Amino acid sequence: MISTRLERIINEQIQKEFYSAYLYLSMEAYFQAQNLNGFANFFHVQLQEERDHALKFFNFLNHVGGKVTLLQIDAPKTDFESPEEVFSLALAHEQFVTKSIYNIVDISLEERDHKTNAFLQWFVTEQAEEEATAENILKKLRLIGNDGRGLLMLDAELAQRVYTPPVAADTGAQA
Ligand code: FEO
Repeated sequence: MISTRLERIINEQIQKEFYSAYLYLSMEAYFQAQNLNGFANFFHVQLQEERDHALKFFNFLNHVGGKVTLLQIDAPKTDFESPEEVFSLALAHEQFVTKSIYNIVDISLEERDHKTNAFLQWFVTEQAEEEATAENILKKLRLIGNDGRGLLMLDAELAQRVYTPPVAADTGAQA
């Protein structure tokens, strides 16, 4: 049985993951409006992954006998000034999520809840990847600056990103 404290913080994490999906959907809308469909595709994949993260926590909490309580999701930012601003915000958001995951890891260790701790390790690795991806694209955008051709090349690269649905064991259902 999971502790009340971990149950509460995992419910908050479900909210944060769904908020992430909502934020990335808003970023997708911005890029669609700019006709930068590769960038839009990147955020479409991103939003699907965030929904999967939320469901992974959701399934885990159910599986360990916790009570899922869905919380309100705030409206995300809807106006952006440039692709660089979008990726700078996306990176800051991922850094915020990483801190949040680390906090749950700390609590699981404090409570000697090794099952929850083992479950969280996937997210620790995932967050490192998420931050690296956002940072990498941000660096490219800074190099590109105002070069429209460079932007279109990056757009073509990001159009290649494909969503990979999680395997059953990866949804947390079997955790
Ligand atoms: Fe689910 Fe991008 O953190």
